[in-house]
Order: sequence, then C-alpha cells, then structure tokens
Amino acid sequence: MKVCIVGASGKLGQYMVQHCLDRGYEVVGVCRSKSIDKLDRFKDRITIFPGATNDREIISQAVAGCKGVLTVLVPWGVQQYSSGTAQAVMDFAEPGTRLIFSCGWHISRDNKDVYSWKLKTFEKIFEGLGRFFRLLEINDQVEACRRIFESDLLWTVVRGSDLEEGESQGLPVWSRHVGDPILKSNLTRRVDFALFMVAAIENDELIHEAPAIVGCQSPSALEHAKDQA
Ligand SMILES: NC(=O)c1ccc[n+]([C@@H]2O[C@H](COP(=O)([O-])OP(=O)(O)OC[C@H]3O[C@@H](n4cnc5c(N)ncnc54)[C@H](OP(=O)(O)O)[C@@H]3O)[C@@H](O)[C@H]2O)c1
Repeated sequence: MKVCIVGASGKLGQYMVQHCLDRGYEVVGVCRSKSIDKLDRFKDRITIFPGATNDREIISQAVAGCKGVLTVLVPWGVQQYSSGTAQAVMDFAEPGTRLIFSCGWHISRDNKDVYSWKLKTFEKIFEGLGRFFRLLEINDQVEACRRIFESDLLWTVVRGSDLEEGESQGLPVWSRHVGDPILKSNLTRRVDFALFMVAAIENDELIHEAPAIVGCQSPSALEHAKDQA
C-alpha cells in the first residue's frame, strides 16, 4: 500500500514514516524544502516532495495513487496553513482514500468535550500570544477541522493529549470526548500518537470519528482497564 505523509519532517511525521516503513508501506512524504535533511536517514526508502504542505500542486502530485494520507495539521504561521493543507488533501486524494489528520484535544467536533480551566486558560494565552507575535493561528486549525468534519470523505481526526518523548508503550486508548475519566492523565508518547495515526488507516471503525487519545500505560488508562476487568 502506498501512503502519503503530509508534514513528514516534523517529530510526529518522522515517527509516522518509521511506523509506515515497519509495516512495509511504500511512503511518500511532503515537507518544507528547508527541512528535507531531517529525513536524511529515510532518503533511500521514501519519495520526498519538497514544498509547503498547503501547496495544492505539490499535494496533488504527492497523494496520487495513495490509499492512505496522514496529515499533520499545524497552527504555525498566519497564512491559513492548516485549512489550506486540509483542503488540498481533501480535494486531491483519490476516492476511497483513508484520510487521517492530527490535531490536539482543543478541537471539538460536537462541543460535548469538557475542558479543565487549566486547558482553557492555556489555550487562550497560547492563541493570544501566537497571534500577537504572528507565529501561530489556532483558529485556522479549528477551521481546518470544521471543513473535515463536514466532508463525506473517509476521514479520522486524531486529537492528541500533551505529548512526551520515550519508548513506545503501545497503541493509545481513546474516547469520543475530552473529560472522559479514561483521558484524565493527559499524556501520550509522541511515538504512540504516530502509531495510532498509522493504525487508523486500516481501522474502519475510526472512519468519521475524532478520537481523543491518551497513553495506554498512563494512570487513567490503567485505572479504566482495572474497572473493566
Ligand atoms: N506538541 C504537543 O504537545 C501536541 C499536543 C497535542 C497535539 N499535538 C498535535 O500533534 C501534531 C504534531 O505536533 P508536534 O508539536 O509534535 O510538532 P511536530 O511533529 O514537530 O510538527 C511540527 C510541524 O510543523 C511544521 N512547521 C513548523 N514551523 C512551521 C512554520 N512556520 N510554517 C509551516 N510549518 C511549520 C514542521 O515542519 P518542518 O519540519 O518543515 O519544520 C512540522 O511538520 C500537530 O497536529 C499538533 O496539533 C501536539
């Protein structure tokens, strides 16, 4: 199976490249030209399309023939980068392609998520400072997801908790809504966030879902597993 990773040079992207290669997938990556060397260790095993991820021409070429497209939605820059990226992927992916997008818990599909005051305050400060310094545009990530949620394509929006580095602990667990006790620990290894993204390609139960994930070894996930036993 041929899979495209849009935003392959970032931390999440690189983990996704590795997981895809481990599964024997043919991998195509899109990343900014200045970041190509971050993919040096994969260069003989993947095809790279250098360019901005919201460049429609690049995306149309990169997703051709792919059965899965993994897209890192980032709030960086004040240029509709996330929504432009998501729109290009949705416009050019071939019919029947599984589309998996990454974002954070702050994205809500149905407004039934329950956020702690800490999370809400942090987001407000982050958004305000980001806009002031013209560094990031969280509202555009919200707009990107609004468009995805409205589409009939075979999408999954994976909502990551706070992240940490470290060895894989296994496939994260998930819930439809932030506020569910299983998510209380709010921590996932980045390598496992990537694992969840890649595994979603072949998991049809996640079509039209926006799973909020947490590490399977986190205290809240273990507590939940104990209650189920
Ligand atoms: N960080 C967290 O704690 C956290 C928590 C929850 C969810 N998430 C989600 O996880 C995903 C990955 O986030 P991450 O924090 O782990 O970062 P990451 O994987 O390192 O990805 C950052 C991406 O942003 C690109 N980028 C950086 N600056 C940019 C700019 N000025 N203009 C355009 N692109 C730029 C990078 O491209 P280059 O390689 O070209 O620099 C890279 O593809 C995102 O969808 C994020 O919403 C993150």
